[in-house]
Amino acid sequence: MSNGLQVIRAQSLRTRNTFGIDATTPLALRVNDPAQLPEALAMAPDALVLGGGSNLLLVSTPDAVLELANDDIGVIAEDGDHVVVRCGAGAVWHDFVMATLRRGWSGLENLSLIPGTVGASPIQNIGAYGVEVMERIIAVDAWDRHEARWTRFTATDCAFTYRDSRFKHEPDRYVVTSVEFRLDRIPRLRLDYAGIRDELAVMAIDTPAANDVAEAVVRIRRRKLPDPAVIGNAGSFFKNPIVATGLAEALRGAHPDLPVFPAGSPDCCKLSAAWLIDRCGWKGHRDGDAGVSAGHALVLVNHGHATGAQLLDLARRIAASVQECFGVAIEPEPRIIGARW
Ligand code: FAD
Ligand code: EPU
Repeated sequence: MSNGLQVIRAQSLRTRNTFGIDATTPLALRVNDPAQLPEALAMAPDALVLGGGSNLLLVSTPDAVLELANDDIGVIAEDGDHVVVRCGAGAVWHDFVMATLRRGWSGLENLSLIPGTVGASPIQNIGAYGVEVMERIIAVDAWDRHEARWTRFTATDCAFTYRDSRFKHEPDRYVVTSVEFRLDRIPRLRLDYAGIRDELAVMAIDTPAANDVAEAVVRIRRRKLPDPAVIGNAGSFFKNPIVATGLAEALRGAHPDLPVFPAGSPDCCKLSAAWLIDRCGWKGHRDGDAGVSAGHALVLVNHGHATGAQLLDLARRIAASVQECFGVAIEPEPRIIGARW
């Protein structure tokens, strides 16, 4: 320990990745104050930045990991209708969402219960139930390892798209230290995503507040997705593929129940990877301890002692069969450590 920088030798990562993959890194650095980052990175320049480990597949063991513990929430600016809030990268995402709702700030309620940290939220532009975090992020502060300096990105600089950002393309360059969000004091609720209104009806709520939407999303998510505390997983293992509209129409002609969603331009559409994988017969499939959830075809699961390599092998075979059956390439969503897709 020096200046609050914690240095841990031989740290097990088993409880630090939601797949529950067994690996022990020789060095874990825990940074309580971002000002300690240069000192920490001098010890391990290539350390893997580890948040909640909920979007990672460890095929090999990182030589060092770096965790951020700063989780302070501060108001940067406010006016009648909006508030600009900065949150430290180490905060647990769901705790941050709940804290904003308690203070009467809305905008993140549809993103309730997504695992992981605030610092990871811009990395893949987290999204759920009709909202993507890019709609609320106004700035990201980070340490640039290539230039050895602090840097600040606007939302435009971040190049956000569906499950993507500039950070995913340069995965080891930036360490995000805090994120700024623009939230609403007067709620503009987003209830159109399939299932939300039905869940509110089950909850007997006619005129929902932002908290009620959060609760509805939490209830749907608990029903649909396996809990990593019960069975190891990283949520959706594949992104929903974006394909040319012509291909989507041809596939829809052959398979009228294929879910097809808009993808932001008339030239392309988003298909449901879960449906494609399910149709290829993979749901509930198991090879040893590596498997596909019996509840959701898009979720790979670790039944106990699967290795990252076994899960990756299964993922590759799933993708190959979807390519063969439907002519559609699907790509992984989590970061794969130690192998190329
Ligand atoms: P990690 O898994 O620790 O890291 C992921 C990547 O981000 C790594 O490359 C890591 O180096 C990098 N990273 C992490 N923190 C930083 C930082 N501070 N600076 C720079 N790089 C960093 N995602 C969704 O979008 N929508 C969902 O609905 C959703 N549901 C999920 C449900 C379950 C059950 C699970 C297990 C996962 C789900 N995910 C979902 C995926 C995951 O929760 C998100 O991608 C989340 O943002 C990952 O956060 P993390 O802190 O766990 O990141
Ligand atoms: N479906 C199947 N078989 C299944 C499951 C689903 O055919 O086993 C079909 C159903 O027709 C369903 C459709 O797939 O209507 C879509 O399923 P779901 O509503 O569960 O959404 P998804 O596309 O599988 C996406 C995100 C989730 C996010 C939810 C809610 C991706 C890759 N995944 O899942 O994000 O929580 O929508 O918005 O975009 C994650 O990124 O890790 C994640 C969990």
